[in-house]
Amino acid sequence: MPNLTHRPRRLRKNEALRALVREARLTRDDFVLPLFVCPGWSVRKEISSMPGVHNLSVDEVTKEVASAYVGGVRSVILFGLPETKDELASGAHAETGIVQQAIRAIRKATPEVIVMADTCLCEYTSHGHCGVVRGGEVLNDESLELLARTAVSQAEAGADVVAPSAMMDGQVGAIREALDDSGFEHVAIMAYAVKYASAFYGPFREAAESAPAFGDRRAYQMDPPNAREAMREAELDFSEGADILMVKPATVYLDILKMVRDRFDLPLAAYHVSGEYAMIKAAGQRGWLDEQRAMMETLTSIKRAGADIILTYYAREAIRMLTG
Ligand code: PBG
Repeated sequence: MPNLTHRPRRLRKNEALRALVREARLTRDDFVLPLFVCPGWSVRKEISSMPGVHNLSVDEVTKEVASAYVGGVRSVILFGLPETKDELASGAHAETGIVQQAIRAIRKATPEVIVMADTCLCEYTSHGHCGVVRGGEVLNDESLELLARTAVSQAEAGADVVAPSAMMDGQVGAIREALDDSGFEHVAIMAYAVKYASAFYGPFREAAESAPAFGDRRAYQMDPPNAREAMREAELDFSEGADILMVKPATVYLDILKMVRDRFDLPLAAYHVSGEYAMIKAAGQRGWLDEQRAMMETLTSIKRAGADIILTYYAREAIRMLTG
């Protein structure tokens, strides 16, 4: 007879026992809902590669946040589709920029919601890169000033958190300094510290109309095979004054998430990106997967790996499952 003194199944007998010994738990406070703001009035245009996600005009996004808040969503992160794009990403740092308008409107309608702003240039540049381009190259140091200006204008509009995602070296330090110089020392920075050059951003680039016009982002976003380098990136953002560190994408990089969790004591965010959403959505729509179970299992894996904060297009649905 084998030794069966230990029988892990004893604690799996029913849901009450399973819940009693459950190690990782999602709560509604874990989630941040990403939203895409576009020009116009009354616009609600579904993104074909992300069913259930829309480009929303300022009036619509304001309503969306108000209703999401009632449904339990406590934080949102905004991305903008400007009216026009140019070399210097003017729409990113304009006082009347699309995201700045949305922040002001949301602040007024739903004062309690946490408003985060993605701080990047790719949605606003004519070439679709995340920084200033000269001679076919994305220049690092020249891009910092524009990123800093963008963060300050987002703070002026009322953002609680700015989230630099351009992967320019020194961006967190440049933004911290600019915010402090402008009297926004209370505005937090959630740094996309570890952001890989990933195929899983595909649907987002349709949503944000931000695909690069030439080349790709591999000269600034991280090379997927690298893990030690991810620790360097996290260390740099930590030392430059990040308040929250982020790993992105989430599920294909759970090992990295766990490593950052073990080494750093800052709050840790993970971005369950557009392609990760689209995969579950598409398989669910075809009846190949139980969408809700696959969604909750996936989000739980991100929590179990160490994330405190999960950015996901499924935020509303997940909260509904948790509180419904
Ligand atoms: C901006 C940015 C991107 C995403 C978040 N911020 C796109 C990119 O780097 O190409 C991707 C988010 C997603 O795929 O859901 N740089």
